[in-house]
Amino acid sequence: MNIDLNRIAELDDDKCLDELINFIRIQVSDEDDPIALMANISAFIKAYVRDLNWAGFYIARDEGLILGPFQGLPACTRLSFDKGVCAKAYRDREIVKVDDVAEFKDHIVCDSNSKSELVIPIFNEEDLVCLIDLDSPKPARFTELEIEKFREIGQILENRIYL
Ligand code: SME
Repeated sequence: MNIDLNRIAELDDDKCLDELINFIRIQVSDEDDPIALMANISAFIKAYVRDLNWAGFYIARDEGLILGPFQGLPACTRLSFDKGVCAKAYRDREIVKVDDVAEFKDHIVCDSNSKSELVIPIFNEEDLVCLIDLDSPKPARFTELEIEKFREIGQILENRIYL
């Protein structure tokens, strides 16, 4: 595994996301430990997706969403199911994109640099087991391209993260 950040900087976003997807496919075929998978996937995302200040997982437990492996500044360790962008993705069981977090009523600030956010739910059968949370310091950073590619990533991880 050789991640060359200088080479990645030369790629366009589409190519970055395709390489990211390839690495994630390889990871899930080589490894089944959920912590190892979430840790490396966070690092792959941070390396391949431009303009992120935070990329990581929140794990769904009975009592709420608990911080999982991530890349970025320290974040809230616990989120409730009724407040914030991650909680909305949990309740809706769908990807949530927020172009301007200041406009999202319940947004929970972990890093005040974050301006836009994308949250992707991951399922085991019918159970929503965890969420991928991406934060960017750029407003409206996430486009239809990221939604399409992260929907694919969600499908690759389906039934692969046993928590
Ligand atoms: N902004 C999120 C909280 C998690 S941090 O961004 C890492 C939310 O509103 O759910």
